Amino acid sequence: MTDIPWAELRRAANAAAARAYAPYSKVHVGAAAVCDTGAVVVGSNIENASYGLTLCAECSLVSDLRRVGGTRLIALCVVAGDSAPIAPCGRCRQVLFEFGGRDLLLDQGEDVAPLTLEQLLPHAFGPDDLPTRANQ
Ligand code: THU
Repeated sequence: MTDIPWAELRRAANAAAARAYAPYSKVHVGAAAVCDTGAVVVGSNIENASYGLTLCAECSLVSDLRRVGGTRLIALCVVAGDSAPIAPCGRCRQVLFEFGGRDLLLDQGEDVAPLTLEQLLPHAFGPDDLPTRANQ
């Protein structure tokens, strides 16, 4: 897929951020991605009184990917309440790697070239590493 609907993804990510549940940090995060079927999937961060149980927007988005029957993420936009792109946290980079791999494109804002997940998570450990390393 070469034509990424970045403007649509930004709109969807902002709408998802508006639905975040973030009463503790007050950082409202929304994520939107186009997947292999062409569908747009979204997620919001969902915090918890037990802080460590918080779900990042990207994790919610991966759940939506499976819900719509998609398998691969192609391009992703993550925004905070101020509408500017934010960098996925380290845990989310690994979660995204499972479903987008090194070529997943990450929005950096209008007029700025997207980054690849390879750039954000170089030398990643992923599904391809398991078969060759498992003891028989
Ligand atoms: N957050 C995300 O949703 N995604 C990220 O990649 C960075 C952090 C959320 C988690 C928490 O609810 C809030 O931002 C502040 O850390």
